[in-house]
Order: sequence, then C-alpha cells, then structure tokens
Amino acid sequence: AGPCDIYASGNTPCVAAHSTTRALYSAYTGALYQVKRGSDGATTTIAPLSAGGVANAATQDSFCAGTTCLITIVYDQSGRGNHLTQAPPGGFSGPESNGYDNLAGAIGAPVTLNGQKAYGVFISPGTGYRNNAASGTATGDAAEGMYAVLDGTHYNSACCFDYGNAETSSKDTGNGHMEAIYFGDNTVWGTGSGSGPWVMADLENGLFSGSSASNNAGDPSVSYRFLTTVVKGEPNQWSIRGANAASGSLSTYYSGARPSVSGYNPMSKEGAIILGIGGDNSNGAQGTFYEGVMTSGYPSDATENSVQANIVAAKYAITSLTSGPVLTVGSSISLRATTAGYTTRYIAHSGSTINTQVVSSSSTTTLKQQASWIVRTGLANSACFSFESYDTPGSFIRHYNFELLLNANAGTKQFYEDATFCPLSGLNGQGNSIRSWSYPTRYFRHYNNVLYAASNGGVHTFDAATSFTNDVSWVISAGFA
Ligand code: AHR
Ligand code: AHR
Ligand code: AHR
Repeated sequence: AGPCDIYASGNTPCVAAHSTTRALYSAYTGALYQVKRGSDGATTTIAPLSAGGVANAATQDSFCAGTTCLITIVYDQSGRGNHLTQAPPGGFSGPESNGYDNLAGAIGAPVTLNGQKAYGVFISPGTGYRNNAASGTATGDAAEGMYAVLDGTHYNSACCFDYGNAETSSKDTGNGHMEAIYFGDNTVWGTGSGSGPWVMADLENGLFSGSSASNNAGDPSVSYRFLTTVVKGEPNQWSIRGANAASGSLSTYYSGARPSVSGYNPMSKEGAIILGIGGDNSNGAQGTFYEGVMTSGYPSDATENSVQANIVAAKYAITSLTSGPVLTVGSSISLRATTAGYTTRYIAHSGSTINTQVVSSSSTTTLKQQASWIVRTGLANSACFSFESYDTPGSFIRHYNFELLLNANAGTKQFYEDATFCPLSGLNGQGNSIRSWSYPTRYFRHYNNVLYAASNGGVHTFDAATSFTNDVSWVISAGFA
C-alpha cells in the first residue's frame, strides 16, 4: 500500500498527493511531475518505474542532458487535478517576470529510494508552487490532515517554507485563513525549544508551535536529514507531529485546542495549496520537499503511524551531488573558459570582483596567483566544494545578488551557503559546470568577462540563454600557483 491507500483505509482520503520521488498509491502509474528544458523549451513528464513505484529519474536525466531543466508541474496523484504550478504574485511578488515565483531546478535534490535514484523539489529563496483553485481541500473549519517529507538540514529563517492549505487570492486575508506545515527557524511568531529549525503550523499571521502564540517548549528542534512532518486540524483541535523519515516512529509535538487568539477558532480555511511559500506569496524561505499529501477529515494518529512506517520502508537515502571530472580537496586549480573566442581566459579575481582574465605560463606571479584556487570541502555541504583564493587565504568565491564575489569567510550560515558549489559534467560536454548548492538553477557563468551565478534564460542580463551552456562550462586543471 502507498500512503494514500493507508489514509483511505482510515476514512480520511487524500484530496491532494504530491511527490516527485514516488507514487503515493500502490496502483498509481500516472505522471508525477513535469520538467521543462532550457535548450528548446520542450517539456516531458516523469512517471513511476512501475505501479506504486519510484520515479523514473533516468527519463529526466536523458531529457535534460547537456542543458538545464526546471520542475514546471508537480502533479496531484489523487485524481482531483490539484496540481502545483509556478506560484503567481499575491501580497508579495516573486522574482520572475510578471511577479511569478521561480521554478525549482530539477537537479537540486537527488536522493535514492530503496536504491533507485529520484529527485526532490529543492526550493531556493524566491521559488514557489501553488494551486488557487483546488477541489476537495478543507474550507472553513472543516477537518484535514497533512504530511510532508522534507530535508531537515535545508531551511532558513525567512517566511515561509510551507506545504498545505492557504488563501485562494495569494493574499493575507486574516487569521485562520491558512493551515499549512511550516519548517524552518523563523522566530517572528512562534518558536519551540532550542534554536530550531522547528515544525510549526502556519495558520496565517502566525507560525504556531503549540497553544501559545509565541514559545512552546514541547516543540523540539528537529534536523533529521529526512524529516517527516505532520499538521492536522479540526474544530477546536489541532496537532503537530514529526519523525525521522528514515527510521522510527512519529512523536506528537502538540495536540490540543486552537490558539486563544482571535480568528483561529473557528478557522476560515480557503483551500488553496502552497509549496515553498507563505499564504501571501512571501517567498524568502528555502527547504526541500520530497512528498506530501492533504486529506479530507482528521486522520487518526494510528493512520499517520502507518504512513510513517510506509515512508521508512521507502528507504530515503542521500546520493552524490556531483558528476564529471573529480576535484581533490586541498589541491590548487585553474578554471579555463570554453566559449569560443574566450578559451585563453581563466577565472581570476581583481580585488573582490571575480572575472576571467587571459593567463598563461608567462603571466606575472601576481596574475597566476589571482587565477589559482584552493579546493575546499563545501562550507555548507560536505558533498560539494568551496573555492578559497590562493593569494587571499580565508576568502572564498561566494554569490551575492547572484554576482560572484571574493569575500572573507564571515562564518555565517548564509556565507557558507553562498560559498558552496557542486561541480557537474560540463553542460557543453567539456570539463565541469559548477552549480550553486543553494540555487541549483544557477551556475558559474562568465558574461562580459565577469562571473555570475546565472540561470539559463532568467530575468538578469547575465542570465541570457544565448551562449549559456558554453559560458557555464570550465576545464579544470592544476593551478598556476
Ligand atoms: O503566518 C505567517 C505568514 O504571515 C503567512 O504565511 C503569510 O501569509 C503572512 O505574511
Ligand atoms: O546571491 C543571492 C543572494 O544575495 C545571496 O544568497 C545573499 O547573500 C544575497 O542577498
Ligand atoms: O564573457 C564573455 C561573453 O560575454 C560571453 O560569452 C557572452 O555570453 C557575453 O556576451
């Protein structure tokens, strides 16, 4: 059985079932998600390998080979057509044209399930999915349940990495107009014990960790690499639960009455569905989503416990974030451009600016050192890398406003993430393409001989699709110094 078969036997059927990694019904053979590639704008759908099985990631890998891909649709497996697509502007606008949010890069969250490769949805700040015309989801004070499997190590403090029920207008229409799972270490509203991250309920104008609108010590900090999160609500009753998605059982972090703040009892749920954003399209948060559902009716703890057992049996595990020519930690490297007309240029720095410069064995020692980089273990993720300046020890290549800069290591989570990059096989067939860990759509790219973290066809001038795959492909060799 799949999670939604289990909810159905508990008389709380799924009314929305989203996953890019696997079928959530044992008989499901339909589309899981759609990807769109940068080279020609074509789309394809990814389906399970077999009924009820893991996603056929090889379909994505071959369709996206040598180019970039975005996740354009996360299909609803419930049969209700509650698909998730690019979120539109609401109270806040997203970074794409017309105020839409970004779509997730398709390669940001590779995992295995029972040894088979699949991809989750890696939500960078600015990214969001939504359905403002969902059918069958809870409205008003009606009962519902939700779970989501997330990456407990990928979060931030911005508003709001959510999955669940929100406003149909994409605007903040008041207390009680949402009921969604939140995950992160935002401290503007509720908090739990420790310094976070926490699973909380986004009920609109508040992230709730329990009965108090502020701190509830019963809601623990949780950061399992694979994290099961649960929020459910019915008239004057709601609950938060969580577990390690790779082993063990669910714990109940809160179960009890609605907050005693005006507007939350009764609730005024509207029934739209959000992923990665707040109810009003607040889009500063980050996180990773693998699978999740919304139900009709308040699931029993026993039903959810069976769903957790099913998730554990799916055996989520990590897999490599890199491909292509291998980098060695501690070595000094040079990175040569491969775009025709620029192939004598290497990634270098002039002060804090990262650029390309013509470098050769007869260059000055100063220039050779400016064009040499020490490979370090990724500051934010040890499966990727960071690049320390040869001539300015303690300074690393990082992105800031999507420009690459050479900055001293600030020792912050933000700096670590901005300075972590994952080399892949070069998109034009040469060397490596080096994508940002925190923005999987963005790669080291030269544009007018200056370096950016660029996406393929995005809104910035330096995101231009013309010459993208050449501009993001680098031949890595021994450093000049
Ligand atoms: O409840 C927290 C956030 O507040 C909601 O997600 C958003 O709509 C509002 O800004
Ligand atoms: O480069 C994009 C973002 O810009 C970085 O993550 C952040 O440090 C800055 O605001
Ligand atoms: O960086 C040099 C060139 O500048 C790139 O190849 C091109 O995309 C841009 O015009």
